[in-house]
Amino acid sequence: MNAHDSEKVIGTLIQQGYAQVETPEEAHLVLYNTCSIRDKAEQKVFNRLQNFKRDAGRGKVFGVLGCVAQQEGEKIFARAPHVSMVCGSASYTRLPEMLVQLEAGNRRVTGLSLDTDETFDTPFTRRDNPHRAYITIIEGCDKSCAYCVVPFTRGPERSRTSESVIAEAGRLAGQGYTEIQLLGQNVNSYRDPSPAGWDFATLLARVAEVRGIRRVRYTTSHPRDFVRGIVDAMDANPVLCDHVHLPVQSGSSRVLAAMDRLYTRDEYMRRIEWLKTARRNYSLTTDIIVGFPGETEEDFERTLDLLDEVQYDSLFSFKYSPRPNTAAIAMADAVPEEEKKRRLAIVQEKQRLIQIRRNAERIGTIEEVLVEGRHAALGQWIGRTSDNHTLNFTHPETNGESLIGTYLPVRVTRSGPNSLVGESATVV
Ligand code: 5AD
Ligand code: SF4
Repeated sequence: MNAHDSEKVIGTLIQQGYAQVETPEEAHLVLYNTCSIRDKAEQKVFNRLQNFKRDAGRGKVFGVLGCVAQQEGEKIFARAPHVSMVCGSASYTRLPEMLVQLEAGNRRVTGLSLDTDETFDTPFTRRDNPHRAYITIIEGCDKSCAYCVVPFTRGPERSRTSESVIAEAGRLAGQGYTEIQLLGQNVNSYRDPSPAGWDFATLLARVAEVRGIRRVRYTTSHPRDFVRGIVDAMDANPVLCDHVHLPVQSGSSRVLAAMDRLYTRDEYMRRIEWLKTARRNYSLTTDIIVGFPGETEEDFERTLDLLDEVQYDSLFSFKYSPRPNTAAIAMADAVPEEEKKRRLAIVQEKQRLIQIRRNAERIGTIEEVLVEGRHAALGQWIGRTSDNHTLNFTHPETNGESLIGTYLPVRVTRSGPNSLVGESATVV
């Protein structure tokens, strides 16, 4: 989501007559797009800002965008006085106007209002990848997970109209993009604001019907809003990729209640059952938080046995990080840092073994990949399967022609914990 915000901000700046340069050293205007989901991400931006402090005197202008900007607001000016602009993501539609103020020599420009019903829907996006394009369908979040800063930094949910989503998908297909990734903090609660009134499952089905689009992905889902109709839509059209990212956070219903996640372990597992008994095989991935306040050893073991039960193909795991403006910050029974570290290592090692075993089972199969790059040193092409596995492969002489952007069948010959290796199955 942040990466796509950057694409939109860059597009907007180019539209305003700015040109992008390769390094911060060459730039006159330096913008930091920041994340405050965990403390580590937040610390990063202040460290980077320090690195450039001395350049402010040489006429460089600095701005902080994104969630740290929204969260810290004008405090950023005090902490880093060389910063001239602080703008949260709900105010990006005001960027052109804010740039005018900066150019007029205004030293303190802010965009911090959350009370918007607009999304940052801009035709000027400068996309990084020539084959896969992101489309934001919903911004903000109306949930209130006790650990999460997002409802505070990104504001309430705003869905884009289905017409504008479909039109953008059509435009992208016309420009040669073949893969689309629909984005939102909680895509499942998408609700078309136009009279058509589509829900997420309908939008998904329609985007998959856009001519020229061969793959559609979406992220991220909230289990509570992940309804059966989404699985039915996916089953009905293989353009909808064989992958669902369904963040569980914890395997303990007690911790889930404390997190205010609005589902129990059993309710989560029901969604997993739908996917496991569906017409196609779906690859499942998740997010896990360890060391939420009050998480006992027994709760933690529930998370471990959930991993055994579900058999995810990969997961993102995090130590709980207390965030300002969240309910959990005031909760008692903090888990000590050392213990969080220990639990994180156990989760990651357990998952590594699961992935080694699951990936090994794929040796000998033939999978279609979208070729995304070239690993010259290894003599391999980098491919991605529909179910979101990296599958690097060798291909006989291509006469100097690039395979990037094409779809090819590849036979899996080797596997590791994080990727598969194979050889092109096009030529025998
Ligand atoms: N501490 C640790 N992890 C967090 N996440 C969100 N907030 C926190 C926090 N305060 C994780 C969740 C979420 C992912 C994007 O980041 O697992 O799904
Ligand atoms: Fe944060 Fe929960 Fe909203 Fe996800 S659903 S963005 S975890 S508050």
